[in-house]
Amino acid sequence: MAMKRNLLILLILSVLLCLAGCGAPKAGREAEEGLLLGFAQIGSESSWRIGNTKSVQEAAERHGIRLMMADANQKQENEIRALRSFIAYRVDVLAFVPIVEEGWENVLREAKSAGIPVILSDRMISRETDESLYDVYVGADFLEEGKKAAAYLLKKIEDLGAGRLRIAEISGTLDSTPALERASGFRSMIAGDERFEIVETISGDFLRSKGKECMQALLERHGGEIDVIYSHNDGMTLGAIEAIEEAGLVPGKDIIIVTVDGEQAAIDLLREGKINCVVECTPMLGDAVMELAEKLKAGETVPRIIHPEETVFTEYDDLDAIGPRGY
Ligand code: AHR
Repeated sequence: MAMKRNLLILLILSVLLCLAGCGAPKAGREAEEGLLLGFAQIGSESSWRIGNTKSVQEAAERHGIRLMMADANQKQENEIRALRSFIAYRVDVLAFVPIVEEGWENVLREAKSAGIPVILSDRMISRETDESLYDVYVGADFLEEGKKAAAYLLKKIEDLGAGRLRIAEISGTLDSTPALERASGFRSMIAGDERFEIVETISGDFLRSKGKECMQALLERHGGEIDVIYSHNDGMTLGAIEAIEEAGLVPGKDIIIVTVDGEQAAIDLLREGKINCVVECTPMLGDAVMELAEKLKAGETVPRIIHPEETVFTEYDDLDAIGPRGY
C-alpha cells in the first residue's frame, strides 16, 4: 500500500516537473545532496509571470539549489495538490505564489506538521491566517503601488487644470493580493477628493485578452465618459489599448492610461505617449527566494516581510534613462 502511494507521488511529481520544464528527480530524495526547493507557480497569465518563473529557475541554478517547480495553470486546487506532493516528497523548503488570499490553512498546517519552512512569494495569504503557518513573505508592496498610481493622477489633474477625472478601473484576479491592495492603496489617496470619480471597476483577471474585453465593455457602457483607465497590470493594459484604438480613440491623450508592472512593452508605449504612467512591480524575486530558502534550511531567522525596491515611470520623467526591463 505504502509502495503504491510512493509510486503515485513520484508519478505526480514527474508530471509537475515536466510541466515546469525542469529535470525529473534522480534515484531518491536521500541519495541527493544540497537543498531541495518545491516551488508552486500560478501559471503563465502574463509576461510578468513568465519573467517571474524565469527569475526563479535561473536563481536556483546560480545558487546550486535543486528546484521542483509546478505550474498550477491558474487553478488553486492544482497549486494545493502540488504543495501536497512536495510535502510528501519531503522537500527542504516550500515556496509558492498564492493565487488568491483565502484557502491555504489546511495545506500549510500539513507543511508545518512535516517541519517544512514556507516562503510566500509575490502574493500574500489572508492576514487572518495563523502567522505561524509561514515564515516569510517576499514580494511587492501592492498598497504602495496603488498609492503611486494615484499620486501620478494627483499631479496630472493639476497639470491639466481639469476639474474632474472619471476613472474606470480594470482590476486583476479577484481576491488576489495585488488586486485587493492596488485597489485600496489607490482609493486611500483619492478618497473624499471630489475631483475623482471611479465610474466602474471590472476584473480582467490579469489577462491581456480579458483586458481588451473589459475595455470594450467599458466603452460600450460609458462611451466618452471615461477620462482615465487604471489597470492593475500591463497585460490587461495592452489589451485595453487595442480596444481604445479600435474605437478610434487615442490612448494617452483621449484617455489617460495608468498601469502597473513595467514590462518592456509598457515602457515602449510610455515612450510613444500611449501610456502615461507605469508603476513598477518587479518579477525578479528569484535570488531573494533562494537566499531565504538557504537561510531557512540552515535554521536561521529571517525577516517576516521583504519588499524589493520599486519605482514609478511617468510621462514627466526622462524616459531615455530607463534601461532594458528584461521582462
Ligand atoms: O502578482 C503580481 C501580478 O500578477 C502582476 O502584476 C501581474 O502581471 C501578474 O500576473
